[in-house]
This record gives sequence, structure tokens and C-alpha cells, in this order.
Amino acid sequence: MGSSSGGGLIHKARGEAKPFLFVLAAVAALGGFLFGYDTGVISGALLFIKPAFHATTLQQQSIIGSLLVGAVVGAAASGYLAEAMSRKWTKVLSGCIYVAAALWSAFASGATELIAARFVLGLAVGTASFVAPMYIAEVAPRQIRGGLVSFNQMMVVIGILIAYIIDFLFKGVADNWRWMLGLGAVPGVALAVGMILMPHSPRWLMERGRDDEARAVLERVHRRAKGIDSEMEDIRHVVAEEGGVRDIVRAAVRPMLIVGMALAIFQQIVGINTVIYYAPTILRFTGSSVSSAITQTVFIGLTNVVFTAVAVLLLDRFGRRAFLLLGTVGLIVSLLVLGVFFASAGVRHAAPDLALFALILYIASFAIGLGPVFWLMISEIFPLHLRSPAMALCTITNWAFNFLVSFTFLSLVSALGRSGTFLLYAAVGLLALVFFATRVPETNGRSLEEIEQQLQHKRRGKALGRDDSPAVAAAIAHYVTGASGE
Ligand code: BGC
Repeated sequence: MGSSSGGGLIHKARGEAKPFLFVLAAVAALGGFLFGYDTGVISGALLFIKPAFHATTLQQQSIIGSLLVGAVVGAAASGYLAEAMSRKWTKVLSGCIYVAAALWSAFASGATELIAARFVLGLAVGTASFVAPMYIAEVAPRQIRGGLVSFNQMMVVIGILIAYIIDFLFKGVADNWRWMLGLGAVPGVALAVGMILMPHSPRWLMERGRDDEARAVLERVHRRAKGIDSEMEDIRHVVAEEGGVRDIVRAAVRPMLIVGMALAIFQQIVGINTVIYYAPTILRFTGSSVSSAITQTVFIGLTNVVFTAVAVLLLDRFGRRAFLLLGTVGLIVSLLVLGVFFASAGVRHAAPDLALFALILYIASFAIGLGPVFWLMISEIFPLHLRSPAMALCTITNWAFNFLVSFTFLSLVSALGRSGTFLLYAAVGLLALVFFATRVPETNGRSLEEIEQQLQHKRRGKALGRDDSPAVAAAIAHYVTGASGE
């Protein structure tokens, strides 16, 4: 299948002209934008909150960390909410929480109040990070699903960039941090109102036997009646096999769960948010002045956006694995360069710009690989009836490890040194590469239902393989390496 089924988002979009689908993805991905904005904005805002509230180190860490803890709780609740009140209304709810918590943060009268407001904001961030990719994946036709789901990641990184720019622009304004935090209410309103106007996910409707409504949504989104029957048949087939939450730890789903959880953990423990949340601090380590560190941070945000765009446009053409593997190699190389840079005064003297170059390479590599591929794959690899709890579990894990890594970074630097810290992340990157190369399947160009069936064949095939069925074993190997020519 591979490249023949691909063709890229723009190409497909032009061929099939689905304006409503793009409006829908854009509105849903506002949740991603807010996720990026609210996590990114604090790095600059904190510089001004600290003197305003005479915040201690613990309070400052809690202002960053409470959002991440809130996100863990939000992601946990959203698995249930997406089923019980639908993907659509869960997203409306998260939009409302974004608005309320952004305004509360902006008017906070002390550090403790701000910590509480950021926790509530985190509830919305965690919810949105889970429901947005799920909703988009369930509405998108398979040919452009990768690009559309990754469009959410695109909005995350645009949110981070806009946050960096807002921090930069407001740095001289009175009460600047209140503006920085409060401005998040604007896209929050757009998300809540926009989602009220959007339809339910057709898959969610069919799970409830509301087939006529599902058909109407599919026809509206795909702008054709042709092929809708077979798509509905696929969905019906999977819905008929519904199981319970307990099934996600059963043997049948275990290979998918291991892949999803590993992607969730590796995405964080390669250290991405040490760069996103601490970019100016790391740049200061390299000898930059405060002012150039802030400017360079904007540049890092921009690189993130540009390379995520490359991934969004090409993921459906070249497949997920190629980007994942290439990106991870880039992460390892850039972390090794940072390790060597901080270990050797000679290198620092001979090439003072090397660290900035390595950070740019690092961000670009994350942006084409682990960044979008994690969120995309967890929306693709699980069977429909287990998708909500399984995606929620992966998302919760991702936020929990985000919290862990962000809060050990500065302590790690004092324990292992700058060089040791980056070399440790490089070693983690190497482990990730081995895992991805051997365990992560290609999902490009398959319907969600086909992926489910193929993962089950793979499992059955493994048993057959042990019984000396080389043809099946070869077919599985072919599938797992993503070289399928079906
Ligand atoms: C990650 C975030 C990260 C962002 C950076 C996302 O995919 O989940 O933790 O801050 O990418 O671009």
C-alpha cells in the first residue's frame, strides 16, 4: 500500500474538495491550539509572575506543574465523557473550561489562586488533547486521515509559537502576564461556539444505533453518497464486536496497547518539554543574553511549526514509520551534539553556535516524527469499541511522563550536569529507535477497521508462525515493517 495509497493532504484535498471537512478539523483542532498556547505561554509569563507574587521556586514549579496534573485528570475523565456525553459535547465543555480558567488565571490575586486556576485549565488541556484527535480521526476519510489528525498537532505547535510571540510582544506592557494568560479565552470561545455547530462523530452515532444521522454526517463531510454504504458496513461490523473497558488489558489488544503506551512514554522521555518549557534557560546555558534567548526561543517555536507542517503534508504519502524513524535518529544526533557541546570547553569555544543548531535540529526532528506520529497512531491502532479507554490511557500516560520529565529536568541538570543530562536523553532516544524499528507497525492508508483486522491477523499469524507457517510469518513481517505491497 505505502506510497501508492498516499498522495499528501493538499493533493487529496484538491482532488476531493471537502471544505466542510476542513472547517470541522480546524474547529476541532482549536483544542490543540489551546493545548499549545496554555503550555507554551507560561515559560515567558513566569518571568513576570515571579516578582508580582514574590513566588518561591516551589510556587513557580507548581504554576507549571498544576496544569500538567490537571491534564492527567482531564484526560482520565475524557475517556468516560467521550462515550457518555459524546465527543462533540465533551469538546464544547472543554472550550467552556478553557475560557473560565483563562479568565480566572488572568485575574488571580495570588500564587495559590493561580495554581488552582492552572489546574482547572489543565482539565481542559487534557480533555482536548484526547478528544480532538479522536473526533477528527473518526470523521476523516482514510486517505487523508493522517494529515487531518496531524493537523491537530500542527495547531498545538502553532499555539506554542503564538504563545512565545505574545510573551515577546507583551514583555514591556503593564500587567503583561495577566494579558498573556487571559488571551487564551479568545480561542476558547471559538472552540466552544464552533463545536456546538459541528456534527457528532458518525462512529459514535452508530455505536448508539443512530445510523440515519451517521449517514447524513458522512454524506455531508465526504460530499458524496457513493461508498458511504461500505464505510457504514465497516463501522457496523466493528461496533457489533463491542467489548468492555477491561478488554484493553486482555491479550488480544496487548500488542496495540504496548505500542501506544511506549509511544506515549518515549514522546516525553526524550525530553521534548525541557526544550518547550525551558528553552530560554537552556539557551542561557549556552551563553546567550536574556534578550537573544527570548528571540531564539521564538525561532525554535517557528522551526517546530515549519517541520510539523512538512509532516502533516507528507505523512499520508510516505507513511508513519519513515517519519518516526528519521525523526528519532535526528533526536539522537542532536542530543549527542548537545552532550558533547556541554562536555567540552574546546568545542564551545570553537563552535559557540553549535548548541543552537542542535536545539533547532532537535525540534525539527521531534516535529516530523514523535510529535505528530504519537497522536496519530493512538487514534489509529485501537479497535473502535476500546478506542476511548485505550486512547485515554495513552494520553494520561503521556501527561504523567510530561510532568515527571519537566519536574526532574533542573534537578537532573544539577545531579548529572548539562552534558550528562542530554547524553541520558540520547540513550533514551536510542532505546526508542530500537523499539520503533522492531515493534511499531505501519498504519498508512488503511481504514481504522482494516488496521484492527490486520493487527488481529498479525496476532493469529504469530501463533501460526510458531507452527511453521513461513508464508504467514513473512506476510506479518512485511506488514510490521510497513513494506506491505497489498
Ligand atoms: C507533545 C507535547 C509537546 C508538543 C511540542 C506534543 O506532541 O505531546 O508534550 O509540548 O508536542 O511540540
